[in-house]
Amino acid sequence: MLPDRVTSHPVLLRLFTPADAPGVQALVADAQVAEPTASIPLPYSPGAATAWIATHDADRQRGTLYTYAITRTDGAALIGAITLRPVADLHDSIGYWIGRPYWGHGYATAATMAITALAFGYLDCETLTASHLERNPASARILEKCGFTLLRTVMREHRGQVEAFCVRGLSRDVWELRIGGSPGAGLPAEDSTADR
Ligand SMILES: CC(C)(COP(=O)(O)OP(=O)(O)OC[C@H]1O[C@@H](n2cnc3c(N)ncnc32)[C@H](O)[C@@H]1OP(=O)(O)O)[C@@H](O)C(=O)NCCC(=O)NCCS
Repeated sequence: MLPDRVTSHPVLLRLFTPADAPGVQALVADAQVAEPTASIPLPYSPGAATAWIATHDADRQRGTLYTYAITRTDGAALIGAITLRPVADLHDSIGYWIGRPYWGHGYATAATMAITALAFGYLDCETLTASHLERNPASARILEKCGFTLLRTVMREHRGQVEAFCVRGLSRDVWELRIGGSPGAGLPAEDSTADR
């Protein structure tokens, strides 16, 4: 089981609670946030955030999908979300979104580095994958910065159109080389403080 809360400056990853639903609703109702993702419904209907958050605990208990809320380490406001699927299937291992007011501060990169370290540090994942629309250079850059290399480009259905996607991957061996190979290195700090 992964920790409930970890910090990876400048972000904190924690579990969602039902109280986050209005924050999720406000951030992903923005089509510029939802549209490039594979899984956020567009339009985002009222109640969708509550229903989504209600799925997290069972997925987590089964170990099939870990979903974390992203906040800044110096503030409680929800800024985004990141997911880890230890066994990639039709879906990739990692997915993320950041609310538009918070773009451009390195938050998605910090969250992706943290979830990568959790996957390799706590679970027996050997390879992680993530894919993004070819027309999403910000997502490409995040993954490059986190060590994911381009595996292939594929054509895939996306919101009713066939589009080019870049599939990127990072293996445990490469990750260990990146972090210097020492046990525990690169792991985000577990955060045991009470919810703020
Ligand atoms: C993509 C997204 C997660 C980026 O979040 P973020 O917190 O702003 O990302 P970061 O600040 O950590 O890093 C973004 C990087 O992309 C770069 N970037 C941003 N827009 C870019 C563009 N149009 N072209 C090239 N690079 C771009 C930034 O300069 C930065 O790289 P740098 O640190 O080398 O300067 C956010 O815009 C988002 O949620 N978009 C909608 C949902 C989405 O696309 N999710 C991913 C689906 S695969």
